[in-house]
Amino acid sequence: MKHLALGIGLVSLVASLTSCRGDVSEDPPILLERNMFQQERYDPQAYSPFFEDHRSMRSPVEGTVSREHYEPDETIATGRDSGGYVLSIPTSLAGRLGGPDKMVQRGQERFNIYCTPCHDKTGSGRGTVARVQNGFAKLPNFHEARIREMPDGQMFATISNGVRLMPSYAAQVPVNDRWAIVSYVRALQMSQVALNTPAAPGNDQGKK
Ligand code: HEC
Repeated sequence: MKHLALGIGLVSLVASLTSCRGDVSEDPPILLERNMFQQERYDPQAYSPFFEDHRSMRSPVEGTVSREHYEPDETIATGRDSGGYVLSIPTSLAGRLGGPDKMVQRGQERFNIYCTPCHDKTGSGRGTVARVQNGFAKLPNFHEARIREMPDGQMFATISNGVRLMPSYAAQVPVNDRWAIVSYVRALQMSQVALNTPAAPGNDQGKK
């Protein structure tokens, strides 16, 4: 019995001294039952003998609707209702985006990312792309009456679908953010409208 205990002690001492504890290994951990830990798969951009074009990265089937980006409310999705383009931003949007202030702030951030390269921060239409690529296109000034009077739904649709030389931004900007951008363009437009109101009595502003 004494010998057996000594033997076991010796064996475990040798095992612990010679085992691979502390070693770094790139191999997967030893699993007796592998289940689905290891499966056949393709690496990104890998060659595939299976498909005719040999690309393992497949495009979604035509007409696939993303569940993440699906918008069930048709007016919000398209900017139109049965009467054509909606004149103002559907009210539920402000709720979705955390209130009117947050919506405009979000719109400002997104506008500055996605629209300013061409339209410029003030919406003048003299963004970097427009200036560098002189003659690339005639960009409208957002403070023209035509754009000021454009229904909100039409501006939303312009971002979604593009218009003439302007590309669609539907892939980069999700639906809620597109409406937020519209709200910010409206704020921009208002900021440039000088109100033609006479100075109130006792208010000497504008007298100089
Ligand atoms: C790559 C440059 C580019 C970017 C970025 C861009 N636009 Fe435009 N946009 C244009 C051009 C060019 C036109 C003029 C199209 C024409 O009349 O041929 C235009 C026109 C417009 C118009 C007027 C449409 C009309 O009916 O005349 C609106 C509104 C507009 N853009 C909004 C936006 C908003 C909002 C964004 C950001 C999401 C944006 N654009 C981003 C190039 C751009």
